[in-house]
Amino acid sequence: MKKYLVIGNPIEHSLSPLLHNYWIKKNNINAIYDKQKLNNEDLESVVTKIKNKKIDGVNITVPFKEKIISFCDKLSPEAEGTQSVNTISLENDKIVGYNTDIKGFKAAFENLKFNVKGKKIFILGAGGVVPSIVFSLNEMRVSEIIISNRTKDKAEKLNNFFKNISIIDWGELPNFDLIINATSVGLNDKDELDLDFSKIKNNKFFYDVIYNPRETKFLKNARKLGNETENGKKMFINQAAEAFKIWHGIQPEINEEVSKLLDQ
Ligand code: ATR
Repeated sequence: MKKYLVIGNPIEHSLSPLLHNYWIKKNNINAIYDKQKLNNEDLESVVTKIKNKKIDGVNITVPFKEKIISFCDKLSPEAEGTQSVNTISLENDKIVGYNTDIKGFKAAFENLKFNVKGKKIFILGAGGVVPSIVFSLNEMRVSEIIISNRTKDKAEKLNNFFKNISIIDWGELPNFDLIINATSVGLNDKDELDLDFSKIKNNKFFYDVIYNPRETKFLKNARKLGNETENGKKMFINQAAEAFKIWHGIQPEINEEVSKLLDQ
């Protein structure tokens, strides 16, 4: 039986096992997908298990998407361009790092009515997922990307990868067509960003990378102010589908049943 794993810290709330095990069963694959909470010093032993074929593939989540790179023998162009790896597999005895968040984000937006081409984008946060979002937005030919992070230094470091982004102070609200919450604020139902959107004109698009809870306070407030909103569920499903394809060579079906599976 093949063995797959998602690693991160924290990891309790990850729905990756639910989704992958559903597709594994649907496609009659003899495999199991589990989750494991790790610390930095455990990364090497996981990679060794992949090399020794005790584990067949790993998804990587916060906070290891960058740290795992030093253990990879080869990176996909997307992983190289973002210095972020969320999927690894063993190919010809080499540890290959992929970034499927990029395709996940792109696929999510291709399914939406909102066309990002030529639009002005404002991103909140500068954590692990932001390089992937910026990479996707650039591929989708947006006109401008502005980033604001509580810790400004971290946002400024993104300028090393992406020359076309501008950084503003936390608390400033520029004009935008689409705003993306890529901070972790909202994962906990009670938490709310200390930003006031009431003066922003309505008819904007508010996107939250968070999908659990289904509607963060960020999205709820935006909806009440008359804006379009969308959570990160489609991005999550599509990044998982891309990882599934890398490991099993099968494009898993994404339908209403899959979507409902994650509503809990
Ligand atoms: P990491 O920071 O390890 O990459 P992450 O979950 O990918 O983890 O990123 C968390 C993001 O949420 C960061 O942009 C973080 O901002 P800081 O860089 O200032 O820590 C942001 N964040 C977390 N709590 C926040 C809060 N209360 N207000 C604003 N931003 C917050």
